[in-house]
Amino acid sequence: MRREILAANWKMNHTNTSGVAMIKELIPLVKDAKAEVVVCAPYLMLTDLIEAAKGTNIGIGAENLYFEDKGAYTGEVSGAMLKEIGVQYVIIGHSERRQYFNETDESVNKKVHKAFEYGLTPIVCVGESLEQRDYGVTNDLVRYQTKIALYGLSAEQVKEVVIAYEPVWAIGTGRTATSEQAEEVCAAIRACVAELYGKDVADEVRVQYGGSMKPSNAEELLAMENIDGGLIGGASLVADDFSKLIR
Ligand code: PGA
Repeated sequence: MRREILAANWKMNHTNTSGVAMIKELIPLVKDAKAEVVVCAPYLMLTDLIEAAKGTNIGIGAENLYFEDKGAYTGEVSGAMLKEIGVQYVIIGHSERRQYFNETDESVNKKVHKAFEYGLTPIVCVGESLEQRDYGVTNDLVRYQTKIALYGLSAEQVKEVVIAYEPVWAIGTGRTATSEQAEEVCAAIRACVAELYGKDVADEVRVQYGGSMKPSNAEELLAMENIDGGLIGGASLVADDFSKLIR
């Protein structure tokens, strides 16, 4: 009953020209997709991508937003700005933002609230480093991140959140979590949501896997009970790869 959601995370790749060209190539390839298809891209090209994807089944998302409404925050982009141009989704708390841009669990929570305030669907990223996995604290950590990210949200809002489980050691490394490893953590995330909001909410919330997902391993990962989609970096940059994965 949960509709799968496959979201591209282009990161700091593609220019406006190559991004728009890729979306145009992608549109016919995924027009019959059963899954929800999303492309998240740098701010600069969102307007053109939205224009190119108008009337199609591809939704457009940002890769971040700021948690204040407006003001003296040089270089930042607000929820209002995203909403006005027609952005529908926003990635929040990607591990690269946590690692390189001081994103914290607390700022993630503020951003999730801001996303809802502006009618954007948040794709919230959680996940452990290799060191944390070796210490055996993966599930503890992911529960901790999830609890803070969702803090203060209503049950109705939590049903709309997409949670992306992304083991840091699998991102961009070509090293994918096994479907069993990914399923175990995605199930732990769902159990955490059930503890906080009850089983009905947990049954509706969509949990993605991300980390070197590609056409050759997507089927096995997506077949797992608690994996409802993917957040895809490298394999989302070329229309052929991303559409194969979606199909
Ligand atoms: P990857 O990136 O597919 O290139 O590993 C996934 C992500 O960071 O969202």
